[in-house]
Amino acid sequence: MDRDLRIVAPEAFDEAGADVLAEVMRASVEARGRCAAALSGGSTPRPVYRRLARVEGLDWSALHVYFGDERAVPPDDPESNYRMAREALLDRVPIPGGQQHRIEAEREDLESAAAEYGRRLPDRLDLLVLGIGADGHTASLFPGSWALDEALRRAVVVDAPRPPTRRVTLTPPVVRSARATVVLAAGEGKAGAVRRALAEEGEVRACPARLARGGTWVLDRAAASELEAGVGG
Ligand code: 6PG
Repeated sequence: MDRDLRIVAPEAFDEAGADVLAEVMRASVEARGRCAAALSGGSTPRPVYRRLARVEGLDWSALHVYFGDERAVPPDDPESNYRMAREALLDRVPIPGGQQHRIEAEREDLESAAAEYGRRLPDRLDLLVLGIGADGHTASLFPGSWALDEALRRAVVVDAPRPPTRRVTLTPPVVRSARATVVLAAGEGKAGAVRRALAEEGEVRACPARLARGGTWVLDRAAASELEAGVGG
């Protein structure tokens, strides 16, 4: 999927995000009979997932759910990405339980949890949903992280520069191999990171969200406010 910018008014953001995710899911199920989708955590996706749960005509039985990253907390912890997705989407649509693959980041042996999750991932994700932090991180790939050089493993344990610090994250090879990547970003606070990710040349090391540069970016006007006209296209 070539880079595709969807810049909308703040009040249209949730629906625009849900429409893009539904569009990719439908195309994947039509082409391959299934959609292996890794969901982003954080707060931005929550209303988008709620809106997605109301989209008509999606074949939820063909959806296989994974996660881009998870914090090392129990699955019912307020900081859990799984809990956010479960409340906003997974409990609202009929996805078979055996097709929901959360990262068991509450386990004492986090390295084993990451390795087992990496083995469960499909060869290629059909859909990877990502957010972006003000520092340009995505998933739990932070600027300067050693994990940005990981070329073999598909999920690793990292220490984030902000709590919850211990996390499991997908690695760059998994991000790069996704058939479709959708980045969701809203608010003035993301404008600088969005500009660095989309409109400035530079290394992924400095701005890991550049890994998703070729994907679809759903932005509200505030998050897109530092992009010059014509960037992206
Ligand atoms: C996480 C996400 C992370 C998130 C960004 C943006 O676990 O928090 O994987 O990459 O997408 O930090 O977070 P907000 O949507 O809360 O701004």
